[in-house]
Amino acid sequence: MADSLQTVMDYAVAVARKAGEVVQTALAGDRKVMTKSSAVDLVTQTDQKVEKLIIQSVKEKFPTHRFIGEESVAAGEACELTNEPTWIIDPIDGTTNFVHSFPFVAVSIGFSVNKQVEVGVVYSCLEDKMFTARRGRGAFCNGEPLQVSEQTDVHQSIIATEFGSNRDPEVVDKIFCSMKNVLKLPVHGVRSAGTAAINMCLVASGCVEAYYEIGMHVWDIAAGSLIVSEAGGLVLDVDGGQVDLMSRRVLAANNRSIAEKIVKEIVLFRPPRDDAL
Ligand code: IPD
Repeated sequence: MADSLQTVMDYAVAVARKAGEVVQTALAGDRKVMTKSSAVDLVTQTDQKVEKLIIQSVKEKFPTHRFIGEESVAAGEACELTNEPTWIIDPIDGTTNFVHSFPFVAVSIGFSVNKQVEVGVVYSCLEDKMFTARRGRGAFCNGEPLQVSEQTDVHQSIIATEFGSNRDPEVVDKIFCSMKNVLKLPVHGVRSAGTAAINMCLVASGCVEAYYEIGMHVWDIAAGSLIVSEAGGLVLDVDGGQVDLMSRRVLAANNRSIAEKIVKEIVLFRPPRDDAL
């Protein structure tokens, strides 16, 4: 598979760029907004169109490969990660941003074999930044190597996290409690880009020391998780244990020292797993 992984990588980059052009064109026009799991879990026709475009393009080149796509799962397809070569796709990560023209929107494409992400591509469309990684070969942004921050003092750090789209009062309380704990460490700042994929690329780029969230999905983090680890960072569960991409819990950090400090502040809970939806 070694060299064919480069073919996958090149194709993923080309498809992400094509998808990004569709997203940019759509930003100039009207967006019809629909909802999914809650009144604030948004989807547009562009999400669906871009996912179809990506899947059709990939099927032409790799007819035997499998797919996990955000909108296909929303339409009832199984979300099952097997050992087979699988493309894990979020056509628009940051749909709420897209709806409001808040300028952080990404196409996220991960490729896994034996349940391990081998290729990660995140295209931040409006910034025109193409983040790429191949297992064991480093992470890059527009061809330039990425390296996580060297900061080991959490008090000198910026931490990214998200509110997500669950408005159950108990869940909202837990999310705010974690944020309050992190803020009071104290840290220099807490930030939300509105897209998990871009938050992870910010960790890989060394702009923020860590990103954590409970509630995002496998398609939001598959590509970004490889980009972080190939930039020298760690990707863990929010309890500090081994990450499980289907568990909807993630902590990406520049190093173990920062990760351990953040783990202590997170109020833990378990949303339904992606493979149980
Ligand atoms: C969402 C974004 C957001 C995160 C949510 C995700 P979507 O993905 O990544 O930052 O907080 O948990 O679901 O719906 O824009 O693809």
